[in-house]
Amino acid sequence: MLKVKQFRYGADNLGYLVYGAESGMAIDGGATDAILSFLADRGLTLRYVANTHNHLDHTCGNEALLKGSRARLLTGADLPDGGEIGLGSRKIRIIHTPGHTEDSLCFYTGSALIAGDTLFNGTIGNCFSGDLEGFYHSIRKLMELPDETVVYAGHDYVKASIAFARRLEPGNRAIGTFLRGYDPKHVFSTLAEERKINPYLRFNEPVIEKLLAKLRLPRETEWERWQSLMSIE
Ligand SMILES: [Fe+2]
Repeated sequence: MLKVKQFRYGADNLGYLVYGAESGMAIDGGATDAILSFLADRGLTLRYVANTHNHLDHTCGNEALLKGSRARLLTGADLPDGGEIGLGSRKIRIIHTPGHTEDSLCFYTGSALIAGDTLFNGTIGNCFSGDLEGFYHSIRKLMELPDETVVYAGHDYVKASIAFARRLEPGNRAIGTFLRGYDPKHVFSTLAEERKINPYLRFNEPVIEKLLAKLRLPRETEWERWQSLMSIE
């Protein structure tokens, strides 16, 4: 099975190394020194460098990683929707998830999802692309993954996202349970937890429908409910 190591850098950025017995792939590898020494300590080869989207706080480590290894940078056509990247005998699946940006994508190892700024622990990214409908379909796509999928996000926004989720659903006890398990040294959630706490995945929950009714926001269809949730500040 492929493993995932999380590396914190910058104010709240989270980057990753996905690795097998011999080689690895850096995703949003801004913590370049830490990644290179982790690889060296374990005798692992860095095979690929890739990003969840082309924002500088995610791509800033690419150059140093490529200089410090023989890795290849994967971009654009190297990362087709539904495509796979091989690491040893294992594969990482590419899932295009436009919304935060048009080029946003996620990497799925079969057990973990490197979600960039598409899906955070407890919230989702800003829709900088302006394509709300695309974003909705992207989130829907991620929701098809199994409950036990570990969600590794591009930033640690846990405290802010939990505060917002609580404001929307003060009676949701799963939110407090999740927050108690929060550890800034290893930030993650499972998709099962996201379904319980993340308002943007909860558009079909009666409690959310009630909230939208109270706020007099459109709530007929799933798409309307999702849009309404996105409009709440
Ligand atoms: Fe971003």
